[in-house]
Parts: sequence; structure tokens; C-alpha cells
Amino acid sequence: MVRRLEAWVVGSENKAPDYGAVLNRIMDDIRPYLGQGRPADYIPALAQVDPMKFGMAVQTADGAAHVVGDGAERFSIQSISKVFSLTLAMRFEGPAIWQRVGREPSGNPFNSLVQLEYEQGIPRNPFINAGALVMTDIIMRHTDDAKGLMLAFVRELAGNDAIDYDPVVAASEWEAGHRNFALAHFLKSFGNIRGNVDQVLDTYFHQCSLTMSCSDLARAMLFLAAGGVMPGSGTTVTSPRQTKRLNALMMTCGLYDEGGDFAFRVGMPGKSGVGGGIVGVLPGELTAVVWSPALNPNHNSLCGMLALEWFTTLTGRSIF
Ligand code: DON
Repeated sequence: MVRRLEAWVVGSENKAPDYGAVLNRIMDDIRPYLGQGRPADYIPALAQVDPMKFGMAVQTADGAAHVVGDGAERFSIQSISKVFSLTLAMRFEGPAIWQRVGREPSGNPFNSLVQLEYEQGIPRNPFINAGALVMTDIIMRHTDDAKGLMLAFVRELAGNDAIDYDPVVAASEWEAGHRNFALAHFLKSFGNIRGNVDQVLDTYFHQCSLTMSCSDLARAMLFLAAGGVMPGSGTTVTSPRQTKRLNALMMTCGLYDEGGDFAFRVGMPGKSGVGGGIVGVLPGELTAVVWSPALNPNHNSLCGMLALEWFTTLTGRSIF
């Protein structure tokens, strides 16, 4: 497979690849792999999703959009939402957030408890669950309606008012969220949750339950590929420094204990979710988003990893 892919590199430094052709090629080549792995089942509602679904979308900073397969179907974005919560926390409190959360890879699963005890209640980074709970707590100090604010923010970024929370998934997270309850109460015991623990969890569970398509996510994350400015509207989402930092954190921490392999195989900043989505960003160029619900043992989309690896290989594009 690798030899075939390398023989098919398209585009060059000066000529953009034919992204539509690349996505169709990936769609054809991924078929034998679909169904390998398993959808997340620790959140019962996610176990109901068809493991054979596969979609992809690419959005370029200069306005071109491409989509294949189930790329227009909405799915549970789960931890991909942690990019939105970190962005909002940065906008509200700037560098002060780094007093409450670290920025190193954890090398542990996203819902691990052990490090938090050793490190006095300061989560390693904003993308593990503990770090995201702290970001949610920060956001809640600036608004009485964090769920409404988050939804409005994401709808505006994606340009789609139909995006919404999935109440069934949010309720399922409430039922099965034992590790998140443990993390949140543990954080509270260290003073690193300031608000009401149940309200922080409720906001966090809702944010994870956001349903968006690959196309929605590719548009919503485009500011990360465009220096913090939304290409269509010209709206500034984040400063150049914040944008650099968001991409750096996605590169180092976005795929948890598989971040090294994602950098090795794919070579761009990314963020995964247990709903089977992965967002990739090529700064200055594009966003590439994939959805395939069956996960590998590290809780990242098995075919999503393959598809993004082939995407950077076929196009000859990566940050390295
Ligand atoms: O809190 C949880 O465990 C889930 N709502 C989100 C986890 C997740 O997506 C991790 N990503 N790979």
C-alpha cells in the first residue's frame, strides 16, 4: 500500500493537489478496512452508531470545499469540542489559564486519574478530560449560560445554525461518566474547579455531545489554518499567538497517548474524539476532517488515522 501511495503523490510546492480526486481515492482504498476496530461503548449511546460509516471533508483557506462519503452527516464530536472550549477559555482569560492547566503531553489515556494526584490537581494539558473540565469551569466564570455561548460560538464558526447538542448522548454521558465525576471532584478537592461540580459536568457533557458533520468541522476549524481569522467573514477568532499555541497543543496533545504515532504517520496538528472524528489542520492551507466510528485500542478512529495518513502522503503535504 505504501509503495502505491508514494507513486501517486499529486500537486507540488506551486500547484495545489486535486483534493476531490484525493478524497475519492482514499474512499475507494479505505473500504477493506471499514469495520475494523470498535465504536466506543463506555458511553452507551455511541455504541449504537453504524461502524461502517465513513466520511471526509477538506476546506481550504482560499475557499474550496470538498466532501466524500458520509462527510455531510452529523456525528458526536466528543473530545474534538475541547478545541472550542480551549479557544473560548483563551479568549476569556488569555495566558492566565496556564496557571490552572499544563501544556505537556500526558502520555496517558484521556481519562486517566493517576497523574492528577502526583501533579497537585493541575491537569497536564487542556485536551485530556481533566484539563477540559478546568477550561469549562473557566468559561462558566464569564457567563451564566455556558451551553448557549458554546453553541452560538460553534454555530457561528461553522456557519450552520442547525448544529445542536444531542440530549440522548449527553444523558448517556451523565449515566456512564464515572471517571469524569471522579476527575471533577478530585479537581475540586485541589481547588482547581471553582464552580459547582455538577454544573461543570453538565456543561462538559453537553459540549461533548455536539453533533456536527465533517464539513461543519472543516469550516469551524478553518481559523486555525488561517492565522486565527475566518477566511470568509474576516472575523478574528484568535490572535496569531493564540493560533500558534492552539495548533502546537493539537500537535503535541491532540491524540493523547497516540500523539507520537499521529505526528509520525500523519504529520499535522490534530484532534480526535471517541465519536470517531479526527480534525487535521495544515496551517496556511486547509483543514481535513474524517469520521469513521470504529476505534483502535487507543480510542482514536482506526480508519480516520489511515485516511489522514494517506491524505498527507497522497498530497505530499504535512507540516514537516
Ligand atoms: O468525557 C469523555 O470521556 C467523552 N465525552 C470524550 C472523550 C473523548 O472523546 C476522547 N477522545 N478521543
